[in-house]
Amino acid sequence: MPPAPRTPARLVVLVSGSGTNLQALIDASATADYGVDIVAVGADRDGIEGLARAERHGIETFVLRTAEFDDRAAWDIALAEKVASYDPGLVVLAGFMKLTGPAFLALFGGRTLNTHPALSPAFPGMHGPRDALAYGVKITGATLFVVDEGVDTGPIVAQVPVPVLEDDDESSLHERIKTSERAMLVEWVGTLARHDFHLDDRAVRLGATPTTKDPHD
Ligand code: GRF
Repeated sequence: MPPAPRTPARLVVLVSGSGTNLQALIDASATADYGVDIVAVGADRDGIEGLARAERHGIETFVLRTAEFDDRAAWDIALAEKVASYDPGLVVLAGFMKLTGPAFLALFGGRTLNTHPALSPAFPGMHGPRDALAYGVKITGATLFVVDEGVDTGPIVAQVPVPVLEDDDESSLHERIKTSERAMLVEWVGTLARHDFHLDDRAVRLGATPTTKDPHD
């Protein structure tokens, strides 16, 4: 039998901005049944509301600015080491505006989630709502996925559709997406934390990685 997941799951959240997705996770974690303990919040910049939200809730924070390192690879190694020091079972990128690199993925690949404000594989990158509007789609949404080496390309955990309204601008559309995005994030982070998960090619399956039985046993 695969081991049961550690509960509550230790979660590190990385942010770059207002942190409303983080706040939704903090609020959900207040209930023991949710099965998540946010042990640290990290950022790539100072002075953001995301860090302030964590501090108000007594959650440990850290900041690692890329400018403080010789290159992106050195920053990536430092980020991996810092996150590892909290021994998380799960890492969530919640509006974290940097790509994690090979050192980070070597430690946390397969257990790092990211949320993107578009329906993947459409409109990857920094401007999902803007690009959806410019294309003229009538439905967009948000995607929760397991981070891989690409830009918003990882195996999909969940998606939520959001209609584009006639008078939407980038801001109104993104805010409406974020309302649905937060609900999806809270539902699925809790589910994955409580049940554990593994990848089966691009499928995200609940339960720990099945152990392959040795035919000689
Ligand atoms: C979210 O829409 C996220 O998908 C995108 O940036 C937004 C972050 O919002 N990458 P917040 O900082 O959680 O409020």
